[in-house]
Amino acid sequence: MKTGFVQFCPVLGDVNTNVQTIDRLVRSVEQADLLVLPELCTTGYNFASKEQAWDTSESIEDGTSVRRLVSLCREKKMHIVAGINERDGDKLYNSAVLVGPNGVVGKYRKMHLFMNEKDIFQPGDLGLPVFDIGWGKIGLLICFDWVFPEAWRILALEGADIICHPSNLVIPGLCQRAVPVNALMNRVYVVTANRIGAEGDLTFTGLSVIADPKGEVIAQASSVDEEVAVVDVDIALARDKMITPRNDVLGDRRPDEYGRLLKS
Ligand code: ACM
Repeated sequence: MKTGFVQFCPVLGDVNTNVQTIDRLVRSVEQADLLVLPELCTTGYNFASKEQAWDTSESIEDGTSVRRLVSLCREKKMHIVAGINERDGDKLYNSAVLVGPNGVVGKYRKMHLFMNEKDIFQPGDLGLPVFDIGWGKIGLLICFDWVFPEAWRILALEGADIICHPSNLVIPGLCQRAVPVNALMNRVYVVTANRIGAEGDLTFTGLSVIADPKGEVIAQASSVDEEVAVVDVDIALARDKMITPRNDVLGDRRPDEYGRLLKS
């Protein structure tokens, strides 16, 4: 199956322009089954105020840009994962939505908020769901979640074949180094779709990456260019958890000795 990332530079606060850019870039892909877009890709990231974040937010269930993504999926017969500034009642969440030809498949709300996000968003309250889209199982993480090995592991234990990771990374190089390592430790595919450009004092680091279950980087973007990459993924490889003929990376764990993880 063909899976890829879309790396671009969203314009802060300009949802219409961003949705048009997404439309153009997704349409430029000849064939893909799943594409991953960056974190907060329809709104930009570094909000000047809570009001600006509020004014650009939308409900995932009936928001305009999510509906546009669904029609794009219907037309292109694909699934898309996109970072969305989600409004739910009077709360905002930094969310990722998985949409397909038939509508919204599911969503994830970022659990580990980075820096000033804590002033705007509520921490995620939906756990770490995995969604079955027929040909594969999709887990979702958002940007700074990458620092927490527990999150990757739970998604692998829940059966994720591909972990889709919409991002707006700002710390040069760190996550891009961690992605292949987490891919190999969990024997899953990871697709990190990062953004480029700058907003205020933040510069985003690009270098979007796809790593395979052996920890090999099989696609990587530049740090500055708008780019789309699509690769073939082999779901059977992500379901083979044997790292040696006698070692299963999930089956050989010792949860009976890991009780410490359940305490703060
Ligand atoms: C980040 O979590 N956007 C760095």
